[in-house]
Amino acid sequence: MNRKGIILAGGLNTRLFPITKVISKQLLPVYDKPLIYYPISTLMLTGIKEILIISDKNNLPIYKKLLGNGKNFGVKLFYKLQNKPRGIAEALIIGKNFLKKSPVALILGDNIFYGNNLLKILKKNSLKINKNTIFAYQVPNPKQFGVVEFNQKKGIKSIEEKPKDPKSNFVVTGLYFFDKNAVDYASKLNFSQRGELEITDLNNIYLSNKNLSIEILGRGFSWFDCGTPDLLYQAQSFVQLMQNRNMLQIGCLEEIAIGNKWISKNLLKKMIKEYPENQYKNYLKKMLY
Ligand code: G1P
Repeated sequence: MNRKGIILAGGLNTRLFPITKVISKQLLPVYDKPLIYYPISTLMLTGIKEILIISDKNNLPIYKKLLGNGKNFGVKLFYKLQNKPRGIAEALIIGKNFLKKSPVALILGDNIFYGNNLLKILKKNSLKINKNTIFAYQVPNPKQFGVVEFNQKKGIKSIEEKPKDPKSNFVVTGLYFFDKNAVDYASKLNFSQRGELEITDLNNIYLSNKNLSIEILGRGFSWFDCGTPDLLYQAQSFVQLMQNRNMLQIGCLEEIAIGNKWISKNLLKKMIKEYPENQYKNYLKKMLY
């Protein structure tokens, strides 16, 4: 069964107030694209064609207007409401009818992944449909994330959500590959003290079942969670720097669709006729030859 994708683009985004007073974080610009383009691109690079986007009632219509049914990017996009931000694991429950027991790649709408080997790592893990994989990254400030403690075999010993005393600097990024049981397990979770169905609790269920693997995104990888003004700013600077140094776009959905052979050059040609003249369009024009 093909893996399906879920993007959670919800949350109160209080740490970015007042920028997020009237608009969701995942619609903010990261250099030349809305933030949500980047997690969509990660799923597309994984080879995932059916994607559910979850957000609140104010922002859902904006996502629909921005991305439509996904046809232009060679994917199928679906939309669902999360009434209140009740945690990342709730996205799986909301996605129950969409998933229909298929394996899932759940990604947070504010997570940006970049790295030369990324595609290979994503595809390799995505193919293991009965396995569950988290992706870890080393950061200087682990306290604000889910933190991994390692055993002697470099496997996972424990995962703690926002610990006061982190056991390592490796944090769980917002990309999770789960098997067909994810919805059932998520439905059994209890709300945490902060009133959320914690993704860390779900990971810990898989860990106690001895069915959770870890993929370390080490040297040569960049990962950003854009949850604070500083992190968002760093992500923006990074994309600006990389794109201008090597003349290759990060998170360009049309380019990935062409690369995956999910849309034709004819369709791209037709689409970009409607685009205004700018840098983004000039880049896409190069895909036509
Ligand atoms: C969430 C997860 C945390 C993870 C982080 C990655 O944190 O709870 O385990 O490390 O995403 O972006 P939150 O965004 O809820 O603070």
